[in-house]
Amino acid sequence: MLAFFGVIFLCVGSLSTSENTVSQDVHSPTENYLLWMWQRRLYIYSAAALLFGFCFFLQVARRKINYTEESKVHIAAKSNSSSEKDAHVHVSGVKIFYGSQTGTAKGFATELSEEVENLGISAEVIDMKDYDPDDRLVDECVSKSVCVFLVATYTDGQPTENAEWFCKWLEEASTDFRYGNKFLKGLRYAAFGLGNSVYVGHYNTVGKNVDKWLWMLGGKRIMSRGEGDCNVVKSRNGSVQADFLAWKVKFLSRLKALSKGEKKSCSGNCKSGGSCKNKKKHGADEEEKAAVQDNGSEVDLIESSSEDEESVLPDEKISRSVVDVEDLGNIMTNVKKAKGVKEDRVDGQVVKLSKLNGVTKTEHEEERREMVTPALREALSKQGYKLIGSHSGVKLCRWTKSMLRGRGGCYKHTFYGIESHRCMETTPSLACANKCVFCWRHHTNPVGTEWRWKMDPAEEILQDALEKHQNMIRQFRGVPGVKPERYEEGLSVKHCALSLVGEPIMYPEINTFLRLLHSHRISSFLVTNAQFPEEIRNLVPVTQLYVSVDASTKDSLKKIDRPLFKDFWPRFIDSLRALGEKRQRTVYRLTLVKAWNVEELQAYSELIALGQPDFIEVKGVTYCGESSASSLTMANVPWHQEVVAFVQQLADMLPHYEIACEHEHSNCLLIAHTKFKVNGEWWTWINYDRFQELVQAHDDSGGQQSFSALDYVAKTPSWALFGANEQGFDPADTRFQRRNKTKDISGC
Ligand SMILES: Cc1cc2nc3c(=O)[nH]c(=O)nc-3n(C[C@H](O)[C@H](O)[C@H](O)COP(=O)(O)O)c2cc1C
Ligand code: SF4
Repeated sequence: MLAFFGVIFLCVGSLSTSENTVSQDVHSPTENYLLWMWQRRLYIYSAAALLFGFCFFLQVARRKINYTEESKVHIAAKSNSSSEKDAHVHVSGVKIFYGSQTGTAKGFATELSEEVENLGISAEVIDMKDYDPDDRLVDECVSKSVCVFLVATYTDGQPTENAEWFCKWLEEASTDFRYGNKFLKGLRYAAFGLGNSVYVGHYNTVGKNVDKWLWMLGGKRIMSRGEGDCNVVKSRNGSVQADFLAWKVKFLSRLKALSKGEKKSCSGNCKSGGSCKNKKKHGADEEEKAAVQDNGSEVDLIESSSEDEESVLPDEKISRSVVDVEDLGNIMTNVKKAKGVKEDRVDGQVVKLSKLNGVTKTEHEEERREMVTPALREALSKQGYKLIGSHSGVKLCRWTKSMLRGRGGCYKHTFYGIESHRCMETTPSLACANKCVFCWRHHTNPVGTEWRWKMDPAEEILQDALEKHQNMIRQFRGVPGVKPERYEEGLSVKHCALSLVGEPIMYPEINTFLRLLHSHRISSFLVTNAQFPEEIRNLVPVTQLYVSVDASTKDSLKKIDRPLFKDFWPRFIDSLRALGEKRQRTVYRLTLVKAWNVEELQAYSELIALGQPDFIEVKGVTYCGESSASSLTMANVPWHQEVVAFVQQLADMLPHYEIACEHEHSNCLLIAHTKFKVNGEWWTWINYDRFQELVQAHDDSGGQQSFSALDYVAKTPSWALFGANEQGFDPADTRFQRRNKTKDISGC
C-alpha cells in the first residue's frame, strides 16, 4: 500500500516540474494557477479516489475488529449462560412417598414415577415406613426435589400401618412450636389422598392432615391437594383411579413448568380472595382454574406455605402450635362473651394454699371454676399435651423418645442415672405463679397465686397419667430404630418428672400424689419455682427436689420470671431456706440467659450459701422461638463453652462444691457438693431401689424413720464425669447429630 502511494507521488512530482516552465510565460498568476490545476486534474482525481478508498478501507477494518470482539463477548456470554443453566437445575428429582395398605397408593406411586421419568426427571418411590422424617425430611428443603405424598385413610381416619410413624412425627412436629413454621421451608410438595366418602367424618383425613402438617411446618405446596374417592357414586371422575389420573395430569404439567424454572402463582380461587398478592395474575392460568373446578374435592390453596399468612385457612391458623397469650386472651374473651361468663376475680371462695395443702378442702368445691377452660384445653391439646381431668397434664418428652430409639438419654440420665425411656413428664397443676420469659409453653397455661379451681383427686390423676403415658409409648411399637427391650421397659414407668408446665406444688394434694408415686415404685423429681416456701416445708420426702433459681438479684428475677406475687423476692429467699431444711436430695437449677443473668456470680454464690443444695445444675437457656410473650432471642443463648466458663468460675467461688458431670448434648453441667465425692470418686447417681425402701420405711413409721440424701447414692459412671471424652453421652447409645441446631433438645 505504501509503495503504491509512493509511485503516485513521484509521478505527480515529475510531471508538475516539466509543465511549470511552459505556463509561466503566457498567463496572469491566477490564470496560471487554475490552468495548473486543470492540467493536473487527473492526478487530483486519482489522489481523492485513493484517499476515499483508504478511508473506506479503514472503516471496514475497524468494523471487522469490533465484530470479532463482539462475537467473542457473545460466545463468552453464551458459555456463561450454559454453565449457569447447569447450576440452575430447578427440579433435581421427584420423591414419591406412599402410605398404602392394600396397594392402591403404592400402584399409583409406581405409575407416577414412570411418567415422571418419561419427562426426563428422575423419580424415586418411597415406602413411608422406610423413611425416617426425623432424620431426613429437613434435607428435602435443599435437595431441589419435589416430594409427592400419596396416602390412604383407614378406619377412624387413621393412616396405613406403613405411614403411621411418618404421620405421627409430622403431627407432633407441626404442633410443636419449637419446630416452627420455617422448619420445612424450601420443601416443595404435592399431596393426594385416597379414601372413600362413605366414611363420613373421616373422609380422606390422612391426605388432608399430611398436606396441612407439611404446610404448617413451612413446606410449599406446588399445587392443590387431590382427593381420590373409592365411592364411585360420589367420585368426581367416577373412580379413585380416574380421580388420580385427573390429578396426575395436572401434577405432570406443573412439574414440567417447575423444571423449566417457571413460577406458578395462585389460580385465583384462593381463600385470601381480595387480599391475595397474586390478584393480578388471577385468571392467567385458565387450565389450572378449570382443573380446580373440575375437582371440587380439592382444597383451594395453590402454591403456598404457612409463612404466607395471607393464605392461612382458619382451621390451620387455629391448629398452629403457638398460641400467644394475646391470642389466647382473644379466644378466652370470645368464649366468655359467647357464654356470657363474667370473670369473678375475688370470689370469696379462695382458700389459701397452705391451708389446703394435703388436708383442708373448700366447702364450696362444686361452685369453683375448672382451671382448664375449653379454649385452653384445645390450645394445650394442640401442643401435644394429654390433659388429665381439669388441671393436670402429661406429655411425652423428646428424650423419652430418643432413649427408646437408642439415641441417648437426657441430662438426668447422665447426672443421676434415670432411664429416660421410662420417665413420665407430668404435672398435677397446669397453673403457675410466674410468667417466665423462657417458659416454653409461651404462657398458654393459666396463672394464679393460689388454688381457686375445682380439684381432681390424686388417685385419678395418677391413674389417668399412667394410662395416657403408656398409650403414647405404645405408639412407638414398630417405629424404625426403636429398641424392642426399651419399648417393653418404657411401658412400665420408673420416674416421674413433675416439671412439665405450671407449678406442681400448687396442687393442694401434692403430698398424696407423691406418696402414690412412691407406692408404685416411681421416683419423683419435683421442680418448684421458689414462690411457695410453706408448701416446700410441708412436702413429704421427694427423690430429688428442685428449686428453679432463674436469677440472683431481685431486679433480674423480676425481669426473667415475671412473678405474679408482689412479695416475690422474700418468697424466693424463704423458698431457698426451706430447701436447705430438707434432708433428701436438693437441687438448684440455674438457667443462664446471656446478657441477663450471667454476670451475677457473686450474688449466685450467696444464694447457694443460703440453701446449701446438694447439687447445682447449670444450663444455657433454650430459645423457644419467637413469641410476643417473651423478648428472648437467640443472642441470649450462651454457647456451651460460655456455660462451662461460668460454671468453672462459680465452682471456684464455692468452698464445698466441684464440677462433677457434663451433658454437652443439652448444654448442661452439674456442680455437686463434695460430700458426694468419696475417695476421689463421684457418687451423684441414685440408688432408686434403696430410695423406695427408705421412703417406704419413712411412711410406715409415720415419718419417724428419717433418711438423708447420702443414704441412696450410687456411683457415677466414668463417661458421665466432667472432662470425659464422651461429654456425658452414654456410650451404650448412638449419638445422632441434629442438623437443625436451633431445635430445643434441652429436656425438662
Ligand atoms: C377397613 C377400611 C377402612 C377404611 N376407612 C376409611 C376412612 O375412614 N376414610 C376414608 O376416606 N377411606 C377409608 N377407607 C378407604 C381407603 O382409604 C381406600 O380404599 C384406599 O383406596 C385404600 O388405599 P390402599 O389400597 O393404598 O391401602 C377404608 C378402607 C378400608 C378397607
Ligand atoms: S428430660 Fe425430664 S421428662 Fe424428659 S426424660 Fe429427662 S427427666 Fe424425664
